[in-house]
Amino acid sequence: MRVIINEDATRVAIEAANLIINLIKRKPNCVLGLATGSTPIELYRLLVDAFSNGEISFSSVSTFNLDEYYDMTPGHHQSYRYFMDQHLFSKVDIKPENTFLPECSGKQSAEEVAKQYEMEIKRRGGIDLQLLGIGENGHIGFNEPGSSLASRTRLKTLTPNTLEANSRLFEDGEFQPTLAMTMGVGTIMDAKQVLILATGTNKSEAIGNMLLGSITSACPASILQMHPHVTAVIDRDASIDIENSDYFELSESNRRKL
Ligand code: GLP
Repeated sequence: MRVIINEDATRVAIEAANLIINLIKRKPNCVLGLATGSTPIELYRLLVDAFSNGEISFSSVSTFNLDEYYDMTPGHHQSYRYFMDQHLFSKVDIKPENTFLPECSGKQSAEEVAKQYEMEIKRRGGIDLQLLGIGENGHIGFNEPGSSLASRTRLKTLTPNTLEANSRLFEDGEFQPTLAMTMGVGTIMDAKQVLILATGTNKSEAIGNMLLGSITSACPASILQMHPHVTAVIDRDASIDIENSDYFELSESNRRKL
């Protein structure tokens, strides 16, 4: 796994944005897997800047988000669709019909929605680059600890730990969904390339386990050790639990020299 340790969250966003900008330049009709959460917000701002400067266009790009809360009313301000519209989709020239999230109303069959989602990813040629954040408990998407490492898109129950970590985004007394549709771990592993971001000491244990822990569903992100093309872009705070972080820094510095 390529690990890039940056001084701070701003550098993490710049590094990650450059990887995505270069991909879009190389393959204007690429398929991006996208993530929500606080971590990628600055990265999305930089992508919007690159679009505004005329550096890249999203006119042929398709996107698939990792996850969406179950049974959200369309346009709900807590939905991940709303988040994506606010931070990216409404600010660039992406075609709305090329943006996908695993949206499922309570009236639909979750199995059917999940099946269609997987089929649409395949129909578009698969995901070229999957962007990921990581949960404090090592989850990717909403694949909580205990998720099958071969899982596909499906409905998941969120853990108390995840609900607690995400409660900061909800007003006091506001309804917080406890179920979500998420790409499976297997779906994520099918992406041609994975870019995982983490910032802050609260992510350091999960990052340590992801990189050098055993491959186990107790830390779903650990399966990324089996993926041939993963780049982890993290800040120094998120690196403190990596046993041999010096080695990763040396390796990255050599890579840049060669
Ligand atoms: C959420 C999302 C993940 C995200 C993670 C970290 O619950 N389902 O896709 O990566 O938790 O979020 P944040 O970036 O806000 O720490």
